[in-house]
Amino acid sequence: MTAPTLEQDVFPLDQIPWDTIPSPAYVLDESRLRRNLALISGVQQASGARIIVAFKGYSMFSTFPLIREYGIHGATASSLNEARLARGEMGGEVHVYAVAYSDAEFPAMLALADHLTFNSFSQWQRFRPQVQAARAAGRAVSIGIRVNHEYGEVETDLYNPAGPYSRLGVTRAEFRKDLLDGIDGLHFHSLCENGPDVLERTLEVFEARFGDVLPRMKWVNFGGGHLMTRKGYDTAHLVRLIRTFRERWNVDVILEPGSAFGWDAGWLVSSVLDVVHNIKDSVLLDVSASAHMPDVLEMPYRPRVLGASEPDVLEHDYLLGGTTCLAGDVIGEYSFARALGVGDRVIFDDMIHYTMVKTSFFNGVKHPDIGIWHANGQYELIKQFSYEEYRAKLS
Ligand SMILES: Cc1ncc(COP(=O)(O)O)c(C=O)c1O
Repeated sequence: MTAPTLEQDVFPLDQIPWDTIPSPAYVLDESRLRRNLALISGVQQASGARIIVAFKGYSMFSTFPLIREYGIHGATASSLNEARLARGEMGGEVHVYAVAYSDAEFPAMLALADHLTFNSFSQWQRFRPQVQAARAAGRAVSIGIRVNHEYGEVETDLYNPAGPYSRLGVTRAEFRKDLLDGIDGLHFHSLCENGPDVLERTLEVFEARFGDVLPRMKWVNFGGGHLMTRKGYDTAHLVRLIRTFRERWNVDVILEPGSAFGWDAGWLVSSVLDVVHNIKDSVLLDVSASAHMPDVLEMPYRPRVLGASEPDVLEHDYLLGGTTCLAGDVIGEYSFARALGVGDRVIFDDMIHYTMVKTSFFNGVKHPDIGIWHANGQYELIKQFSYEEYRAKLS
């Protein structure tokens, strides 16, 4: 078996006429998305795992037909809205896991789900009668429980579900073997942009903590955080781990990455509205870190900007500032080869996963368009946001 790779050709960056794309806009690149999908599909085939897309990280539904071309099994939803999107737009299997279900929403989520995972045994007990009634009426819904093996290698606390006092998943100390009747699967999620080496160490701990329960299970969901589409990720290692696990425990393995689908698959196109000076030069852009790329402030991280470098490397240094009045709405300091002026494009790289799904209308600022740069070199504008959409959210 050859390991799935990122060999596929992508549209050359220097041939994209950025000035012709109306700013601001999230631009998904079809060729880069296809490259990711080919790899994910290859991992699915080689490993026998079922891979689904985590909507919390990637839910650009205009691309779902493309995702379906690659045999991706379905999607996982973390809310009723996402579950409706999964059933209505994605097709395939609908998996649902929410931190806590409300009495008001649970019946609708149950009706939509093929797989439904509980975060606690108290929720399982609360909603078990509804699950039993649905099954008695002929619905084949598979139920899972999320566990917390308390092992994580995620450096940022904000993204570490296995950290101290985590509310996510049942620890071994709280685990109720007496309540497993009707439960088919275990779910864990403790990776974040990790490689297979971290998964291997995680599986050792998971098996040590929950191995006695595994013979009773039909499936295990390894959660998300498997960044298989990042350059250098050892897909052969991932495939080996999955195959070994499936054979050892005789279970189906499910992976639900989000980032891996949209990784490096497009940009946020912005343009300069003004340049101001206060000891340093600040460029004011028509996009915002706070409203349009919140992970830049939350994680925090420094996005790549096409053609720009660290400060002091190229001729002209600028602080790249966002368009809201939040003082900290600053993306970072970069240097450019030429002076920036009003109307110049500034292109943020890798701006597809965890961006569109997290944007807001803070300050009422213009929401970037959503478009697709097709593999044939055509730009398609998919969506522009209106005043009515901003107003409807406020009411
Ligand atoms: C339960 C669960 N599954 C899947 C994911 C997707 O993770 P990623 O986008 O890092 O692959 C997340 C992310 O937070 C998650 O909480």
